[in-house]
Amino acid sequence: MRLHHRFLAAAALVVIVQAGAAVAGPDSVRQDFLDLCADCHNADARGNGPLTRNLTKVPPDLTRIRARAHGVFDEKAVYDWIIGLKMTNAHGSREMPIWGDWLMDEAVEDSTSLETARAAEREIEQRIMAIVKYIETLQK
Ligand code: HEC
Repeated sequence: MRLHHRFLAAAALVVIVQAGAAVAGPDSVRQDFLDLCADCHNADARGNGPLTRNLTKVPPDLTRIRARAHGVFDEKAVYDWIIGLKMTNAHGSREMPIWGDWLMDEAVEDSTSLETARAAEREIEQRIMAIVKYIETLQK
């Protein structure tokens, strides 16, 4: 019966949305930012976090990425930078951790299963993308 199918589809959607919220709801994104980024970029993302004095490079103000790029927020570039695909130029080594590798180690722990690694990879992509979207909302 068609109505029945529609009901099932709607119920399935609710489950998916709730599962998604558990993985990357606004609170968990904010928490990820505070846990992983605020030491250097500060809780308000303006740079000058508590670890800054131990670094040779000043962590940039993440609320002005768009302003620095003349009005364009390049989601892909920010994502690539965080996950570690985009390295700094030849003039210096990167001081920011390569979060792709770091989160991967954390997620797979001692597992050697390919399935675990693949699932972890998808989870990390979503987690970092959520952080990118969060940073985008902070742009001045
Ligand atoms: C150990 C300190 C440290 C931590 C922790 C850190 N960063 Fe960084 N970040 C830096 C530094 C220093 C730079 C400047 C580039 C470099 O490292 O050479 C930078 C650069 C950036 C940039 C490039 C900004 C631009 O204008 O191009 C982005 C985006 C960024 N960080 C996001 C993050 C996010 C998101 C997190 C958390 C997941 C994070 N950072 C955690 C130190 C840190």
